[in-house]
Amino acid sequence: MFRLKESEERAFKSLSESIISHPDYQSMKKLRAHGRLTVFDHSISVARCALAMNRRLKLKADEQQLITGALLHDFYLYDWHDARIDVPLFKMHGYTHPFTACRNASERFELTGMEKNIIESHMWPLTLRTLPHSREAWIVCLCDKIIATEELFKR
Ligand SMILES: [Fe+2]
Ligand SMILES: [Fe+2]
Repeated sequence: MFRLKESEERAFKSLSESIISHPDYQSMKKLRAHGRLTVFDHSISVARCALAMNRRLKLKADEQQLITGALLHDFYLYDWHDARIDVPLFKMHGYTHPFTACRNASERFELTGMEKNIIESHMWPLTLRTLPHSREAWIVCLCDKIIATEELFKR
């Protein structure tokens, strides 16, 4: 939907490099998201969408916090496909994974309050009381839904 220009590709690389290179981030290449896509692919797509949306619509978001939050929004690090349909993990994944992701991310990276809120609120309105508190969090919340919808049709 939003494509990055060459200068934006360079900006994306420098904003995302330190997180993407972390071995635990790389481990998301083994976790399936939707269909053939991995959680790694999905997270990168959401972060790229967030950068492009911010630039196209001139939303003036803080790009470092925007990209950090977007990259880590699904950093829950487990395969929810392993869970059986009748056990709590499967049922609760949608509600709980933003908080698991935030905890995992905080253990490995120095996060700002805004970055934590971006991660925890990205499933809103499912997580009713955890609202996006910044334009950065709204962008990620929206991009996650746009990218998830795109991925559904690519399956
Ligand atoms: Fe998510
Ligand atoms: Fe997501």
